[in-house]
Amino acid sequence: MQLRCFDSKCAATLDLHGGALACPRCGELLELALNSTPLNPAALKELWSERRRSRDPRDISGVWRYREVLPEYAAEEIVTLGEGNTPLVRGHRSAQWAGVGDLQFKHLGWNPTGCFKDLGMTVGMTEARHAGAKVVACASTGNTAASMAAYAARAGVVGRVYLPAGQVSLNKLAQALDFGAEVVEVVGSFDDALNTLLESTGEGIYFLNSINPFRIEGQKTTMYELLDQLAWQSPDYLVVPGGNLGNSAAFGKAFDEMLRLGLIGRAPKMIVVQAAGANPFAQLWESGAAELTAVAEPETVATAIRIGNPRSWKKSLRGVQQTGGQVLDVTDEEIAEAKAIIGRDGIGCEPASAATLAGIRKLRRAGKIAEGASSVAILTGHVLKDTNFIIRTHQRQEAHA
Ligand code: F0G
Repeated sequence: MQLRCFDSKCAATLDLHGGALACPRCGELLELALNSTPLNPAALKELWSERRRSRDPRDISGVWRYREVLPEYAAEEIVTLGEGNTPLVRGHRSAQWAGVGDLQFKHLGWNPTGCFKDLGMTVGMTEARHAGAKVVACASTGNTAASMAAYAARAGVVGRVYLPAGQVSLNKLAQALDFGAEVVEVVGSFDDALNTLLESTGEGIYFLNSINPFRIEGQKTTMYELLDQLAWQSPDYLVVPGGNLGNSAAFGKAFDEMLRLGLIGRAPKMIVVQAAGANPFAQLWESGAAELTAVAEPETVATAIRIGNPRSWKKSLRGVQQTGGQVLDVTDEEIAEAKAIIGRDGIGCEPASAATLAGIRKLRRAGKIAEGASSVAILTGHVLKDTNFIIRTHQRQEAHA
Protein backbone atom coordinates (compact mmCIF):
# COMPACT_ATOMS: atom_id res chain seq x y z
CA MET A 1 0.00 0.00 0.00
CA GLN A 2 0.96 3.59 -0.42
CA LEU A 3 0.51 6.59 1.92
CA ARG A 4 -0.62 9.67 0.06
CA CYS A 5 -2.32 13.02 0.46
CA PHE A 6 -6.12 12.83 0.43
CA ASP A 7 -6.30 15.86 -1.85
CA SER A 8 -5.99 14.42 -5.36
CA LYS A 9 -4.73 17.79 -6.66
CA CYS A 10 -1.74 17.62 -4.29
CA ALA A 11 -1.24 13.83 -4.50
CA ALA A 12 1.98 13.92 -2.47
CA THR A 13 3.22 10.44 -1.53
CA LEU A 14 4.90 9.72 1.79
CA ASP A 15 6.85 7.01 3.58
CA LEU A 16 4.20 4.43 4.58
CA HIS A 17 5.61 3.95 8.09
CA GLY A 18 6.79 7.51 8.70
CA GLY A 19 4.02 8.30 11.20
CA ALA A 20 2.76 11.44 9.42
CA LEU A 21 -0.86 12.46 10.07
CA ALA A 22 -1.06 15.39 7.65
CA CYS A 23 0.42 16.20 4.27
CA PRO A 24 3.68 18.13 4.73
CA ARG A 25 3.00 19.93 1.44
CA CYS A 26 -0.61 21.11 1.83
CA GLY A 27 -1.74 20.15 5.34
CA GLU A 28 -4.59 17.88 4.17
CA LEU A 29 -5.30 14.49 5.81
CA LEU A 30 -3.58 11.39 4.46
CA GLU A 31 -4.94 8.10 3.21
CA LEU A 32 -3.62 4.68 2.30
CA ALA A 33 -4.11 3.54 -1.27
CA LEU A 34 -4.22 -0.02 -2.58
CA ASN A 35 -1.49 -1.01 -4.99
CA SER A 36 -2.65 -1.15 -8.56
CA THR A 37 -1.91 -4.89 -8.85
CA PRO A 38 -5.29 -6.32 -9.86
CA LEU A 39 -6.90 -8.74 -7.40
CA ASN A 40 -9.34 -11.36 -8.64
CA PRO A 41 -12.70 -10.62 -6.95
CA ALA A 42 -14.05 -14.17 -7.12
CA ALA A 43 -10.82 -15.58 -5.70
CA LEU A 44 -10.85 -13.01 -2.89
CA LYS A 45 -14.42 -13.88 -1.91
CA GLU A 46 -13.53 -17.54 -1.86
CA LEU A 47 -10.36 -16.96 0.18
CA TRP A 48 -12.16 -14.79 2.77
CA SER A 49 -14.91 -17.34 3.07
CA GLU A 50 -12.43 -20.21 3.45
CA ARG A 51 -10.61 -18.37 6.26
CA ARG A 52 -13.68 -18.72 8.50
CA ARG A 53 -12.65 -22.34 9.00
CA SER A 54 -9.11 -21.44 10.01
CA ARG A 55 -7.62 -21.17 13.53
CA ASP A 56 -4.99 -18.60 12.57
CA PRO A 57 -5.58 -15.53 14.83
CA ARG A 58 -5.47 -13.32 11.72
CA ASP A 59 -8.26 -15.31 10.11
CA ILE A 60 -10.34 -15.29 13.30
CA SER A 61 -10.17 -11.48 13.39
CA GLY A 62 -12.95 -9.93 11.30
CA VAL A 63 -10.45 -7.25 10.33
CA TRP A 64 -7.31 -9.18 9.39
CA ARG A 65 -9.32 -11.81 7.52
CA TYR A 66 -9.51 -9.12 4.81
CA ARG A 67 -5.75 -8.44 4.91
CA GLU A 68 -5.38 -8.32 1.12
CA VAL A 69 -6.84 -4.80 1.36
CA LEU A 70 -4.83 -3.78 4.46
CA PRO A 71 -1.22 -2.74 5.02
CA GLU A 72 1.04 -5.77 5.33
CA TYR A 73 2.59 -7.00 8.58
CA ALA A 74 4.25 -10.19 9.75
CA ALA A 75 1.76 -12.45 11.54
CA GLU A 76 3.50 -12.07 14.91
CA GLU A 77 3.35 -8.26 14.74
CA ILE A 78 -0.43 -8.10 14.70
CA VAL A 79 -2.14 -6.81 17.86
CA THR A 80 -5.59 -8.40 17.92
CA LEU A 81 -8.38 -9.17 20.36
CA GLY A 82 -10.43 -11.14 17.83
CA GLU A 83 -12.38 -8.03 16.82
CA GLY A 84 -15.09 -7.94 14.16
CA ASN A 85 -17.38 -10.88 13.38
CA THR A 86 -20.39 -8.89 14.50
CA PRO A 87 -23.81 -10.15 13.44
CA LEU A 88 -26.61 -8.58 11.47
CA VAL A 89 -29.75 -8.48 13.59
CA ARG A 90 -33.26 -7.63 12.44
CA GLY A 91 -35.07 -4.99 14.44
CA HIS A 92 -38.77 -5.71 14.01
CA ARG A 93 -40.16 -3.11 16.40
CA SER A 94 -37.55 -0.64 15.23
CA ALA A 95 -38.55 -1.14 11.59
CA GLN A 96 -42.19 -0.66 12.46
CA TRP A 97 -41.42 2.46 14.49
CA ALA A 98 -39.43 3.96 11.62
CA GLY A 99 -42.02 2.92 9.02
CA VAL A 100 -39.74 0.71 6.93
CA GLY A 101 -40.12 -2.92 5.95
CA ASP A 102 -36.55 -4.12 5.78
CA LEU A 103 -34.16 -3.02 8.52
CA GLN A 104 -31.11 -4.78 9.90
CA PHE A 105 -28.66 -3.60 12.50
CA LYS A 106 -24.97 -4.34 12.28
CA HIS A 107 -24.01 -4.17 15.91
CA LEU A 108 -20.43 -3.00 16.23
CA GLY A 109 -21.01 -2.65 19.97
CA TRP A 110 -20.47 -6.39 20.12
CA ASN A 111 -16.74 -5.91 19.68
CA PRO A 112 -14.11 -6.63 22.41
CA THR A 113 -14.40 -3.24 24.14
CA GLY A 114 -18.03 -2.70 23.17
CA CYS A 115 -17.52 -0.33 20.28
CA PHE A 116 -16.50 -0.05 16.62
CA LYS A 117 -13.23 1.63 17.58
CA ASP A 118 -11.61 -1.80 18.05
CA LEU A 119 -11.77 -2.40 14.29
CA GLY A 120 -9.50 0.56 13.60
CA MET A 121 -7.44 0.17 16.72
CA THR A 122 -6.14 -3.30 15.83
CA VAL A 123 -4.53 -1.82 12.70
CA GLY A 124 -3.52 1.48 14.35
CA MET A 125 -1.86 -0.30 17.27
CA THR A 126 -0.13 -2.81 15.01
CA GLU A 127 1.33 0.09 13.03
CA ALA A 128 2.27 1.94 16.24
CA ARG A 129 4.28 -1.04 17.44
CA HIS A 130 5.75 -1.62 13.98
CA ALA A 131 6.92 2.02 14.05
CA GLY A 132 8.54 1.42 17.45
CA ALA A 133 6.17 3.55 19.54
CA LYS A 134 6.48 3.33 23.33
CA VAL A 135 3.62 5.74 24.07
CA VAL A 136 0.35 6.05 22.16
CA ALA A 137 -2.16 8.84 22.69
CA CYS A 138 -5.63 9.92 21.64
CA ALA A 139 -8.32 12.47 22.48
CA SER A 140 -11.71 10.92 22.97
CA THR A 141 -15.34 11.22 23.96
CA GLY A 142 -14.73 7.89 25.71
CA ASN A 143 -14.88 4.98 23.31
CA THR A 144 -11.63 5.58 21.47
CA ALA A 145 -9.98 5.91 24.89
CA ALA A 146 -11.35 2.57 26.10
CA SER A 147 -10.37 0.82 22.88
CA MET A 148 -6.91 2.35 22.64
CA ALA A 149 -6.25 1.51 26.30
CA ALA A 150 -7.12 -2.15 25.71
CA TYR A 151 -5.00 -2.52 22.58
CA ALA A 152 -2.11 -0.59 24.18
CA ALA A 153 -2.22 -3.06 27.05
CA ARG A 154 -2.07 -5.95 24.55
CA ALA A 155 0.81 -4.31 22.72
CA GLY A 156 2.72 -3.54 25.91
CA VAL A 157 2.92 0.21 25.30
CA VAL A 158 1.76 3.15 27.43
CA GLY A 159 -1.69 4.49 26.49
CA ARG A 160 -2.45 8.15 27.26
CA VAL A 161 -5.98 9.44 26.78
CA TYR A 162 -7.12 13.08 26.66
CA LEU A 163 -10.74 13.40 27.77
CA PRO A 164 -13.10 16.39 28.00
CA ALA A 165 -13.45 16.76 31.78
CA GLY A 166 -16.81 15.69 33.16
CA GLN A 167 -18.24 14.86 29.73
CA VAL A 168 -17.34 11.23 29.33
CA SER A 169 -19.59 8.37 30.39
CA LEU A 170 -18.20 6.78 33.55
CA ASN A 171 -18.54 3.34 31.99
CA LYS A 172 -16.04 4.31 29.28
CA LEU A 173 -13.71 6.04 31.73
CA ALA A 174 -13.81 2.91 33.90
CA GLN A 175 -12.74 0.78 30.93
CA ALA A 176 -9.78 3.05 30.16
CA LEU A 177 -8.70 2.87 33.81
CA ASP A 178 -9.12 -0.90 33.95
CA PHE A 179 -6.89 -1.30 30.90
CA GLY A 180 -4.23 0.83 32.58
CA ALA A 181 -4.37 4.07 30.58
CA GLU A 182 -2.96 7.38 31.79
CA VAL A 183 -5.85 9.84 31.86
CA VAL A 184 -5.44 13.55 31.08
CA GLU A 185 -8.60 15.60 31.67
CA VAL A 186 -8.97 18.72 29.52
CA VAL A 187 -11.39 21.49 30.42
CA GLY A 188 -13.68 22.06 27.42
CA SER A 189 -15.08 19.84 24.68
CA PHE A 190 -13.67 16.91 22.69
CA ASP A 191 -12.43 19.46 20.15
CA ASP A 192 -10.39 21.19 22.89
CA ALA A 193 -9.03 17.83 24.03
CA LEU A 194 -7.96 16.98 20.47
CA ASN A 195 -6.34 20.39 20.00
CA THR A 196 -4.46 19.96 23.28
CA LEU A 197 -3.24 16.56 22.16
CA LEU A 198 -2.15 17.72 18.71
CA GLU A 199 -0.30 20.70 20.22
CA SER A 200 1.57 18.51 22.71
CA THR A 201 5.06 17.51 21.64
CA GLY A 202 4.86 14.52 19.38
CA GLU A 203 8.35 13.30 20.32
CA GLY A 204 8.14 9.52 20.71
CA ILE A 205 4.34 9.64 20.96
CA TYR A 206 2.22 7.90 18.37
CA PHE A 207 -1.21 9.50 17.76
CA LEU A 208 -4.20 7.23 17.40
CA ASN A 209 -7.16 9.47 16.64
CA SER A 210 -9.17 8.71 13.52
CA ILE A 211 -7.16 11.23 11.51
CA ASN A 212 -4.61 8.40 11.63
CA PRO A 213 -5.09 6.71 8.22
CA PHE A 214 -4.21 3.26 9.60
CA ARG A 215 -7.26 3.38 11.87
CA ILE A 216 -9.43 4.20 8.87
CA GLU A 217 -8.10 1.07 7.14
CA GLY A 218 -9.28 -1.14 10.00
CA GLN A 219 -12.66 0.54 10.22
CA LYS A 220 -13.25 0.15 6.50
CA THR A 221 -13.31 -3.65 6.91
CA THR A 222 -16.72 -3.23 8.59
CA MET A 223 -18.11 -2.78 5.10
CA TYR A 224 -16.15 -5.73 3.66
CA GLU A 225 -17.56 -7.90 6.44
CA LEU A 226 -21.07 -6.52 5.98
CA LEU A 227 -21.11 -7.13 2.23
CA ASP A 228 -19.59 -10.56 2.78
CA GLN A 229 -22.52 -11.32 5.14
CA LEU A 230 -24.96 -10.08 2.50
CA ALA A 231 -23.45 -12.28 -0.23
CA TRP A 232 -21.99 -9.10 -1.80
CA GLN A 233 -25.43 -7.62 -2.48
CA SER A 234 -25.71 -4.04 -1.23
CA PRO A 235 -28.73 -2.84 0.72
CA ASP A 236 -30.33 0.35 -0.57
CA TYR A 237 -29.14 2.39 2.42
CA LEU A 238 -26.30 2.24 4.90
CA VAL A 239 -26.96 4.50 7.90
CA VAL A 240 -24.21 5.59 10.30
CA PRO A 241 -23.94 8.16 13.11
CA GLY A 242 -21.45 10.97 12.54
CA GLY A 243 -19.17 12.63 15.11
CA ASN A 244 -15.60 13.20 14.06
CA LEU A 245 -16.62 11.47 10.79
CA GLY A 246 -13.85 8.88 10.75
CA ASN A 247 -16.20 5.93 10.50
CA SER A 248 -18.26 7.26 7.60
CA ALA A 249 -14.98 8.27 5.92
CA ALA A 250 -13.79 4.68 6.27
CA PHE A 251 -17.05 3.28 4.88
CA GLY A 252 -16.94 5.60 1.88
CA LYS A 253 -13.40 4.43 1.16
CA ALA A 254 -14.50 0.80 1.44
CA PHE A 255 -17.32 1.27 -1.09
CA ASP A 256 -14.98 2.99 -3.51
CA GLU A 257 -12.47 0.14 -3.23
CA MET A 258 -15.05 -2.64 -3.45
CA LEU A 259 -16.46 -1.14 -6.63
CA ARG A 260 -12.99 -0.77 -8.13
CA LEU A 261 -12.05 -4.33 -7.16
CA GLY A 262 -15.26 -5.65 -8.71
CA LEU A 263 -16.46 -7.12 -5.41
CA ILE A 264 -19.78 -5.30 -5.67
CA GLY A 265 -21.66 -3.84 -8.61
CA ARG A 266 -23.43 -1.12 -6.64
CA ALA A 267 -22.78 0.59 -3.29
CA PRO A 268 -25.50 1.46 -0.78
CA LYS A 269 -26.41 5.11 -0.40
CA MET A 270 -24.57 6.25 2.71
CA ILE A 271 -26.61 8.30 5.17
CA VAL A 272 -24.77 10.10 7.98
CA VAL A 273 -26.82 11.17 11.00
CA GLN A 274 -25.64 13.79 13.50
CA ALA A 275 -27.16 15.09 16.73
CA ALA A 276 -28.89 18.44 16.24
CA GLY A 277 -26.72 20.17 18.86
CA ALA A 278 -23.50 18.93 17.24
CA ASN A 279 -24.39 19.09 13.57
CA PRO A 280 -21.74 20.99 11.56
CA PHE A 281 -21.73 18.33 8.83
CA ALA A 282 -25.53 18.34 8.51
CA GLN A 283 -25.39 22.14 8.27
CA LEU A 284 -22.75 21.93 5.56
CA TRP A 285 -24.89 19.45 3.63
CA GLU A 286 -28.02 21.57 4.00
CA SER A 287 -26.32 24.80 2.91
CA GLY A 288 -24.12 23.34 0.20
CA ALA A 289 -21.23 25.41 1.58
CA ALA A 290 -17.74 24.65 0.32
CA GLU A 291 -16.15 24.63 3.79
CA LEU A 292 -17.32 23.28 7.11
CA THR A 293 -18.17 25.78 9.84
CA ALA A 294 -17.47 24.34 13.29
CA VAL A 295 -20.13 24.39 16.01
CA ALA A 296 -18.43 26.28 18.86
CA GLU A 297 -20.23 24.67 21.79
CA PRO A 298 -21.58 21.28 20.74
CA GLU A 299 -24.31 19.91 23.00
CA THR A 300 -26.13 16.59 22.93
CA VAL A 301 -27.11 13.79 25.30
CA ALA A 302 -25.27 11.47 22.91
CA THR A 303 -21.88 12.39 24.40
CA ALA A 304 -20.01 10.09 22.00
CA ILE A 305 -20.84 12.45 19.13
CA ARG A 306 -20.64 15.73 21.03
CA ILE A 307 -18.14 17.11 18.51
CA GLY A 308 -18.16 20.55 16.90
CA ASN A 309 -15.24 20.38 14.50
CA PRO A 310 -15.09 16.99 12.77
CA ARG A 311 -11.68 16.46 11.22
CA SER A 312 -12.57 13.89 8.57
CA TRP A 313 -15.45 15.79 6.97
CA LYS A 314 -13.92 15.97 3.50
CA LYS A 315 -13.35 12.21 3.40
CA SER A 316 -16.85 11.53 4.69
CA LEU A 317 -18.39 13.97 2.21
CA ARG A 318 -16.68 12.18 -0.66
CA GLY A 319 -18.30 8.93 0.43
CA VAL A 320 -21.74 10.48 0.82
CA GLN A 321 -21.51 12.15 -2.59
CA GLN A 322 -20.07 9.15 -4.42
CA THR A 323 -22.83 6.87 -3.14
CA GLY A 324 -25.66 9.36 -3.69
CA GLY A 325 -26.37 9.50 0.04
CA GLN A 326 -27.26 12.33 2.38
CA VAL A 327 -26.56 13.92 5.76
CA LEU A 328 -29.13 14.93 8.36
CA ASP A 329 -29.54 15.62 12.05
CA VAL A 330 -31.97 14.44 14.72
CA THR A 331 -32.89 15.92 18.09
CA ASP A 332 -31.92 14.50 21.47
CA GLU A 333 -35.57 13.58 22.05
CA GLU A 334 -35.64 11.58 18.82
CA ILE A 335 -32.39 9.84 19.79
CA ALA A 336 -33.77 8.90 23.23
CA GLU A 337 -37.00 7.58 21.72
CA ALA A 338 -35.16 5.54 19.08
CA LYS A 339 -32.79 4.13 21.68
CA ALA A 340 -35.69 2.91 23.81
CA ILE A 341 -37.24 1.16 20.79
CA ILE A 342 -33.96 -0.60 19.92
CA GLY A 343 -33.89 -1.75 23.54
CA ARG A 344 -37.38 -3.19 23.15
CA ASP A 345 -36.10 -5.23 20.23
CA GLY A 346 -33.79 -6.88 22.75
CA ILE A 347 -30.76 -5.37 21.06
CA GLY A 348 -29.80 -2.21 22.93
CA CYS A 349 -27.13 0.35 22.09
CA GLU A 350 -25.66 3.58 23.37
CA PRO A 351 -27.38 6.91 22.58
CA ALA A 352 -25.15 7.92 19.63
CA SER A 353 -25.94 4.66 17.84
CA ALA A 354 -29.68 5.27 18.09
CA ALA A 355 -29.30 8.40 15.94
CA THR A 356 -29.35 5.98 13.00
CA LEU A 357 -32.88 4.72 13.65
CA ALA A 358 -34.10 8.23 14.44
CA GLY A 359 -32.59 9.34 11.11
CA ILE A 360 -34.32 6.56 9.17
CA ARG A 361 -37.69 7.53 10.65
CA LYS A 362 -37.11 11.19 9.82
CA LEU A 363 -36.19 10.41 6.20
CA ARG A 364 -39.10 8.00 5.84
CA ARG A 365 -41.53 10.63 7.15
CA ALA A 366 -40.12 13.15 4.70
CA GLY A 367 -40.62 10.63 1.89
CA LYS A 368 -36.88 10.42 1.24
CA ILE A 369 -36.74 6.66 1.84
CA ALA A 370 -39.24 4.33 0.17
CA GLU A 371 -41.16 1.99 2.48
CA GLY A 372 -39.89 -1.08 0.64
CA ALA A 373 -36.24 -0.01 0.66
CA SER A 374 -33.67 -2.11 2.51
CA SER A 375 -31.50 -0.47 5.15
CA VAL A 376 -28.62 -1.51 7.35
CA ALA A 377 -28.06 0.74 10.36
CA ILE A 378 -24.72 0.70 12.13
CA LEU A 379 -24.98 0.47 15.91
CA THR A 380 -21.67 1.80 17.09
CA GLY A 381 -21.68 1.16 20.84
CA HIS A 382 -22.92 -1.37 23.42
CA VAL A 383 -25.93 -0.71 25.64
CA LEU A 384 -23.69 -0.77 28.75
CA LYS A 385 -21.54 2.08 27.47
CA ASP A 386 -23.75 4.72 29.06
CA THR A 387 -25.82 3.22 31.85
CA ASN A 388 -26.33 6.58 33.53
CA PHE A 389 -28.31 7.76 30.49
CA ILE A 390 -30.66 4.77 30.78
CA ILE A 391 -31.20 5.12 34.52
CA ARG A 392 -31.85 8.87 34.21
CA THR A 393 -34.34 8.36 31.37
CA HIS A 394 -36.29 5.79 33.36
CA GLN A 395 -36.24 7.89 36.53
CA ARG A 396 -37.70 10.78 34.55
CA GLN A 397 -40.37 8.54 33.06
CA GLU A 398 -41.34 7.28 36.52
CA ALA A 399 -41.50 10.81 37.87
CA HIS A 400 -43.96 11.67 35.07
CA ALA A 401 -46.03 8.49 35.43
N1 F0G B 1 -20.84 6.32 17.86
C1 F0G B 1 -20.08 6.14 18.95
C2 F0G B 1 -20.56 5.21 19.99
C3 F0G B 1 -18.85 6.82 19.08
O1 F0G B 1 -18.10 6.64 20.16
C4 F0G B 1 -18.46 7.71 18.06
C5 F0G B 1 -17.21 8.47 18.16
C6 F0G B 1 -19.30 7.86 16.95
C7 F0G B 1 -20.47 7.15 16.89
C8 F0G B 1 -18.95 8.73 15.82
O2 F0G B 1 -17.96 8.21 15.02
O3 F0G B 1 -16.32 10.06 15.12
O4 F0G B 1 -16.10 8.23 13.45
O5 F0G B 1 -17.92 9.91 13.25
N2 F0G B 1 -16.47 8.47 19.16
C9 F0G B 1 -15.12 9.07 19.24
C10 F0G B 1 -14.46 8.73 20.56
C11 F0G B 1 -15.06 10.48 18.86
O6 F0G B 1 -13.60 9.48 21.00
O7 F0G B 1 -14.76 7.69 21.12
P1 F0G B 1 -17.01 9.16 14.15
